[in-house]
Amino acid sequence: SKKPVRVAVTGAAGQIGYALLFRIASGEMLGKDQPVILQLLEIPDEKAQNALKGVIMELEDCAFPLLAGIEAHSDPKTAFKDTDYALLVGSRPRGPGMERSELLAINGAIFTAQGKALNEVASRNVKVLVVGNPANTNAYIAMKSAPDLPAKNFTAMLRLDHNRAASQIAAKTGKAVAEIEKLAVWGNHSPTMYADYRFATIGGESVKAMINDETWNRETFLPTVGKRGAAIIAARGLSSAASAANAAIDHMRDWALGTNGKWVTMGIPSNGEYGIPKEVMFGYPVTCENGEYKIVEGLEIDAFSQECIKKTLDELLGEQDGVKHLI
Ligand code: NAI
Repeated sequence: SKKPVRVAVTGAAGQIGYALLFRIASGEMLGKDQPVILQLLEIPDEKAQNALKGVIMELEDCAFPLLAGIEAHSDPKTAFKDTDYALLVGSRPRGPGMERSELLAINGAIFTAQGKALNEVASRNVKVLVVGNPANTNAYIAMKSAPDLPAKNFTAMLRLDHNRAASQIAAKTGKAVAEIEKLAVWGNHSPTMYADYRFATIGGESVKAMINDETWNRETFLPTVGKRGAAIIAARGLSSAASAANAAIDHMRDWALGTNGKWVTMGIPSNGEYGIPKEVMFGYPVTCENGEYKIVEGLEIDAFSQECIKKTLDELLGEQDGVKHLI
């Protein structure tokens, strides 16, 4: 049987953590033949550490055959030791009345410390996924704080936007979500992201031709996907958690095990593709094979798409500028 791999999860006692850990431990992320050791990180605060103990008791009570070990940590330097996968979920989302500069300062401190810890103690092949918002900029900070690790190992989660877009398209066309291929989401995980179905197909047929309604694209589809997070908060009183955890599982599983040619969306550091400046943590359509992602290149960018991509890029460059003193 396979040797266990180490999976670190931060914010492990939070909402997303609660929807995520049990699925990782059951083999949904890395395969039903891959044992895992969970290295869980929470803030040192007594309440958070107690909550983490409770989650660990429940993980134990599931008696998962693939769960080869569970550790609780309050310091990233021990939590990330030799870790093969790191899901950085814990962060400080924007609270009511919080200034942008304040948000960037708090998260800047968290993600520089975590990036440095990964740099020092993680496996040299660690695959890092940042979920905690602002996800792209947090991933950028962590990447820049880990100069000894390959930059390509740092990614941000755009998969929830991708899945939301797929679900809206399935509903609009009356087709099964599993049949949708070649969907892309460009840019920042924020309402400025650009969900793009111009290349998408269902059963080999063009989704754009099937929908044939540019007004729906611009006035219904894009705002619905962009504001979905806010709609869930308004309805549930809490931010999306199970769907976010599900997207994190999808992202890591596809990266580790491959997509079989299917396009998925990942936030990854640019190498200049599609005119995005180098190192910007940008949502791109990718395929994955042998543990590596590859950007889908050569897609035509029309005037409307260019405008949308510029808007989300400008926002990201602004965020990046706001944290440049940390880097
Ligand atoms: P939550 O508040 O329920 O849980 C967050 C947990 O992280 C808390 O238990 C907290 O103690 C912990 N934490 C905070 N700072 C930490 C640190 N430095 N080290 C370790 N743990 C730390 O929040 P929830 O709902 O689980 O969301 C987590 C993050 O994910 C938020 O930033 C949220 O905005 C973001 N999110 C991102 C999505 C995406 O698509 N990229 C989708 C949905 C949420």
